Amino acid sequence: MQGNAIIFAVVFVVTIMLFGGLVFHSLQAMDPMEVPEAVSLGKKVWQEKACVECHTILGHGGYFGPDLTDVWKRKGADRLEDFFREPPLLPGAEKKRHLSLTGEEAQVIIPYLAFLASIKRTDQWPPKPLFSIPEGR
Ligand code: HEC
Repeated sequence: MQGNAIIFAVVFVVTIMLFGGLVFHSLQAMDPMEVPEAVSLGKKVWQEKACVECHTILGHGGYFGPDLTDVWKRKGADRLEDFFREPPLLPGAEKKRHLSLTGEEAQVIIPYLAFLASIKRTDQWPPKPLFSIPEGR
């Protein structure tokens, strides 16, 4: 009987130490990023304009428009500014243009897109589509 109590006590203490060690390790691994003011204002514009309905960032959002997680790397600030000032026609639409942004909105959404592109993640993200649907289907 006393043997069982000792085994229980040892297992209990080891479990608590292991748990404590893992909690400590997790807290060490956290490295919160500083979020500049323009980036959080840009996120607000992203939310208010509902860009997420058509675009995905970091795996979350719609598929009508392209994934924007890395758009800042693809286009750069100047081309993005031009895009938002004079957006193209939406695909398949004769008259409906992509929504435009004011200069002020573009001034904050571009740093937000730059911030997204700078977030550390695996090399394979965003994932490449497994297949594409041919035009006209
Ligand atoms: C109604 C759906 C819709 C909404 C809402 C929308 N977009 Fe788009 N967006 C598109 C589509 C579709 C394209 C692709 C246009 C093309 O290929 O000609 C696009 C293209 C873009 C591009 C260029 C991407 C590239 O790789 O060239 C950027 C940048 C962009 N959108 C940003 C935004 C932002 C920021 C918002 C919110 C302020 C937004 N979009 C809201 C549908 C949308």
